[in-house]
Formats: sequence, structure tokens, C-alpha cells
Amino acid sequence: MPSPLDNVRILEFPKVSDPRGNLSFIEEAVHVPFAIKRVFYIYDVPGGASRGGHAHRHNRQVLICLSGSMDLHLTDGRQERVITLNRANTGVLIPPGVWDSMHNFSSGTTLLVVCSEYYDEADYIRDYSEYLEYMARTCPT
Ligand code: TYD
Repeated sequence: MPSPLDNVRILEFPKVSDPRGNLSFIEEAVHVPFAIKRVFYIYDVPGGASRGGHAHRHNRQVLICLSGSMDLHLTDGRQERVITLNRANTGVLIPPGVWDSMHNFSSGTTLLVVCSEYYDEADYIRDYSEYLEYMARTCPT
């Protein structure tokens, strides 16, 4: 059975450069493949801190590192993929069912997350053992 990890995508957003600086933009259903219901952002991350450590049942999201850099670790419980994010016009599309965590934030990093769903704690799987059971049920080998 295909893994949700196979559907992780790197997205390139438009970048309009001129002598005053760069401008990028994201339109729903054009530059991200869903209607945008929520945006959140992570910033002022202390050195050594990690974020994430969960999977979603339905929410799709795109992570964009607007400034600084961080390492995005993605797994389906079997394979792992690590993506370094450090460009404001590049995003990573994370489908539901992928366990993600973020590490190695550089000082001043701002991470923007564009989501397909409103915040709903019931959509989260935050326990890794529970996640492995969920994957065994929904995505057997
Ligand atoms: P959490 O999901 O633990 O952050 P991360 O996984 O990115 O490290 O969220 C931290 C807290 O913020 C938690 O109490 C839930 C709350 N929260 C909202 O209220 N709305 C949101 O859109 C998000 C992403 C989190």
C-alpha cells in the first residue's frame, strides 16, 4: 500500500524580485492544493528546542520557513525523510498520516504553516505508539 510519505511534495512559490526586495505569494487551490482554513506560525524558538511530534488524521499542511532555517523530520513509521527548510519561496506539503517534527531551528527562524483545516485537537495523533497502530490499520504493508 502506498505510504503518505510518498505524497510529500516540495512546492515552489512565485518570487517577484526587484531592487526593493523579494515578494512571494500563495493563492489557495493554486499554489497549495487545498482551500486555506488556517495559518499559524512558529517563532522565537529557543536554541535546542524541537516542535511538532505528531501526525494529523485529516489536516493537510504546507510548511514554509520565512526566515532562518530548520530541519523537518518526516516518517511513516518505517522510513524517514529529512528536509532542511531555509528558503521563503519553498514549501513542503505534508499529507495526513505523516508524523512530523522540527529540529535545529536557527536563531530568528520563522516557520509559517498553511493548513486545510481549522484547529481541532481530535485531528492530532500525538502518541507515537498510537501512531504506529493507526498506520498498521490504515496503511498496512
Ligand atoms: P502544538 O501542536 O503542540 O505545536 P507544535 O506541534 O507545532 O509544536 O500546539 C501548541 C499549542 O497551541 C497547543 O496547546 C495547541 C495550540 N494551537 C492552537 O490553539 N491552534 C493552532 O492552530 C495550533 C497549531 C496550535
